[in-house]
Amino acid sequence: MSKHFDVVVIGGGPGGYIAAIRAAQLGFNTACIDEWKNDKGGPAPGGTCTNVGCIPSKALLQSSEHFEHAGHSFADHGIGVSGLSIDVAKMLKRKDAVVKQNNDGILYLFKKNKVSFFHGRGSFVKAAAEGWEIQVGDEVLVGKHVIIATGSNPRALPGAPFDEDRILSNDGALRIPAVPKTLGLIGSGVIGLEMGSVWRRLGAEVTVLEALPNFLGAVDEQIAKEAHKAFTKQGLKIELGVKVDAVKAGKSAVKVAYTNAKGESVALEVERLIVSIGRVPNTVGLNAEGVGLMLDPRGAIVVDDDCRTNLANVWAVGDVVRGPMLAHKAEEEGVAVAERIAGQHGHVNFNTVPWVIYTSPEIAWVGETEQQLKARGAAYKAGTFPFMANGRARALGDTTGMVKMLADAKTDEILGVHIVGPYASELIAECVVAMEFKASSEDLARICHAHPSLSEATKEAALAVDKRTLNF
Ligand code: FAD
Ligand code: NAI
Repeated sequence: MSKHFDVVVIGGGPGGYIAAIRAAQLGFNTACIDEWKNDKGGPAPGGTCTNVGCIPSKALLQSSEHFEHAGHSFADHGIGVSGLSIDVAKMLKRKDAVVKQNNDGILYLFKKNKVSFFHGRGSFVKAAAEGWEIQVGDEVLVGKHVIIATGSNPRALPGAPFDEDRILSNDGALRIPAVPKTLGLIGSGVIGLEMGSVWRRLGAEVTVLEALPNFLGAVDEQIAKEAHKAFTKQGLKIELGVKVDAVKAGKSAVKVAYTNAKGESVALEVERLIVSIGRVPNTVGLNAEGVGLMLDPRGAIVVDDDCRTNLANVWAVGDVVRGPMLAHKAEEEGVAVAERIAGQHGHVNFNTVPWVIYTSPEIAWVGETEQQLKARGAAYKAGTFPFMANGRARALGDTTGMVKMLADAKTDEILGVHIVGPYASELIAECVVAMEFKASSEDLARICHAHPSLSEATKEAALAVDKRTLNF
């Protein structure tokens, strides 16, 4: 016998589980289906983000940063460390425990909000009079509305499938059993830089091969340049403008043949290779074709601005649709769709979705970059403030980087903020709020910021827009 729901969500990542909770809060009888299994075969909701993405990567970034500090910066504080070592197995166990806390947290939230959870793969059967029939295991759920949040999968290099032993996706990259002597990374995007940082800090010699001639092309050029300088100084070898010709995995090493920017053929041999060249939307097993769900040539589900698909009462959110592949973007879309189903006016402002790269220094931004403003011929003013001139940064011993603010030349409205430096991930939140409220740089400059704090650098960058910094 089938089970009937107002809303059936397929996928329990940040897009899906948040959509399910919001739908339940709004009074809908809601089900969430997720197929992710933990190592015992049990449910592990939270999707890529919780299991092999945001959460475990940040756990390893934290562990490796402690190790780096103990080895390199404690001495400056008069703290001596002898016999410093890293127990990789313990570090990975801690990471797994952090993941499990998050999986369990979501199951708890489902109970608390009376969301019915189904562990298994959800697949469209057909449209019925009462809604859409979705098969999960032996059961058939019928949903008046269906929200698809089936996420994305890592993209493999043609001819070099992931074996998760020598050629690693983000999954294998998060469970390398011992620090490799040499590590190669293909793609110097977000995963490449975060994972490269983890293993470099722990002692691996890391080489990053990037196809594009520019480093971090989506990032404000001035910020990307500063970040490149910092990463290179730390010992990350980043080669730009590279064409990977062949990858061959052996028993204990991977051979990468590539052509460098000068057109020379280079042979690189590394113990392990992480391939982080982007992700592809995932609709495997949904039976999209069977019910006529429209996909674009990249395999993403086609949606309108409100996340409606071409099928009546079927919505899609997160990595499986257009837009940035970010957990918080997926969550915002999930909330907005649940609210639209309830007749409310859910809204996602793509211009104020923040981006963060959790390297050291961290990189964070919101809004337009200087090169984007130039390209559209906008009249703008720019202000920058270096952390070197910030008291808290000096006390932390972390003075790399800057805050850069871009504002409209006429109205002074903030158009973008770009940060490279300590705790950029936290500092950007103030700038997102400012932009959501259409603040001017003068508004931020007039707000009292605690002293000594890194946030004073944001205020000073706002003052710099008007060429009147107080501390630089
Ligand atoms: P997912 O999280 O991929 O969830 C989809 C879920 O649906 C999965 O559990 C999957 O098993 C399930 N599923 C798929 N098909 C079916 C089906 N037919 N039936 C049932 N279940 C199904 N983003 C950030 O914002 N910040 C970060 O710091 C960050 N770090 C990242 C680090 C790494 C290494 C990676 C790989 C990604 C990172 N991301 C980060 C991106 C983030 O993980 C994704 O944007 C986010 O997880 C997308 O959420 P989603 O709900 O759309 O999909
Ligand atoms: P990415 O899109 O960030 O970077 C991929 C890089 O690989 C690009 O620089 C691209 O030019 C390069 N590339 C593509 N093909 C190549 C080839 N054949 N040879 C060499 N280089 C090649 O993708 P990534 O790092 O795989 O991450 C996927 C997504 O996951 C990100 O776009 C992001 O949305 C999300 N993510 C977010 C994080 C965060 O918010 N902190 C952390 C990690 C991932």
